[in-house]
Amino acid sequence: MMSLFRIALIGAGAMGCQHAGYLTKEPTARLVAIADPFSSALADETGIERFTDHREMLDQVRPDAVIIANPNDLHVTTAIDCLERGIPALLEKPVACSQDEANQLIAAQQRYDVPILVGHHRRHNPVAARAKAIIDAGRLGRLATVTGMWQTCKPDDYFTMEWRRRQGAGVILINLVHDLDLLRHFCGEISAVQAMTHNTLRGFEVEDSAIVQLEFTNGALGSLTGSDAVVSPWGWDQNVNEVPLYAKHLDQSCYFLAGSEGALSVPQLALWRYGEARGWQHQLVCESHRYTQDSAQQRQLAHFLEVARGQADPLVGVADAARTLAVIDAIQEAARTGQRQVPLAP
Ligand SMILES: NC(=O)c1ccc[n+]([C@@H]2O[C@H](COP(=O)([O-])OP(=O)(O)OC[C@H]3O[C@@H](n4cnc5c(N)ncnc54)[C@H](O)[C@@H]3O)[C@@H](O)[C@H]2O)c1
Repeated sequence: MMSLFRIALIGAGAMGCQHAGYLTKEPTARLVAIADPFSSALADETGIERFTDHREMLDQVRPDAVIIANPNDLHVTTAIDCLERGIPALLEKPVACSQDEANQLIAAQQRYDVPILVGHHRRHNPVAARAKAIIDAGRLGRLATVTGMWQTCKPDDYFTMEWRRRQGAGVILINLVHDLDLLRHFCGEISAVQAMTHNTLRGFEVEDSAIVQLEFTNGALGSLTGSDAVVSPWGWDQNVNEVPLYAKHLDQSCYFLAGSEGALSVPQLALWRYGEARGWQHQLVCESHRYTQDSAQQRQLAHFLEVARGQADPLVGVADAARTLAVIDAIQEAARTGQRQVPLAP
């Protein structure tokens, strides 16, 4: 019989508690320790031992694997602490706060050769795999335009945590990072960006709204609009039945992709194509594609256990996530300078 995998959690806030919940449904693993210097709520609720210093926890508990869900600016140093001890990690996104930081993590990983899975959980959602299969099968023809949205109204108390108002947070790094990861997955690498941002709705140090233009290496052009301070039903979290916390508007779409032969809405997977005749005077025919509903986070966890046991390579590794971060760095620079920017490959 396979022995239970011993998992430790670093950072037991909103996301860490979600991970702990998914772990209770995973029959081959259990949570054995928690490191969080400020919050004891999860430890109090579960009776699992809590440490205030994650290094002490790693050395004393020696877990088989770790889930890192602390604030963004601690991701790289914490992940390196795990690598140094030979402990595989599921590292929440963003992989780092800047490309320089991500490069430090890539270098450390090459030194220690221990796997890290980055928490771009949407990639584990069956709808993402189905959309990619439709695109890769050429059903849209030559991909030309992509429109994406992630717009919602975070509750004001979400921002009582100071780190969420400071540099290293913001709607681009916290939320659009998921959309950019997925658009890269669907459409290929991003070769250039332009962007505008503002913080006028919330007035924090970081942006609350952004509009980004994307050029893909295959020639497709995209736009991505994001805000955490507007009233809107359009965004992956509202449109995909993935995280219970968010109110759902499942009949709405967050991505629209169009090519020379067809157009696709996501997550509905409505594929629009011409029938016998082509041209705007002819009615389009809509083909509905089905997919199995399944929890992306639960699937991510199951995959992480395989990665940590050496049975699979990470679906989203550090170098891959660093490419999305390079796009984000370019977006921030484009917004700052008003100039088109080319992401620097890690
Ligand atoms: N994958 C997703 O969809 C998703 C969703 C939300 C958040 N996240 C990511 O998860 C991470 C945590 O976000 P959150 O919303 O849970 O934030 P949070 O503020 O609710 O939780 C962070 C926790 O980390 C703890 N912490 C602070 N310093 C620490 C340290 N030195 N060691 C250990 N713990 C420490 C805090 O006390 C807090 O409990 C962030 O990186 C965020 O980007 C991912």
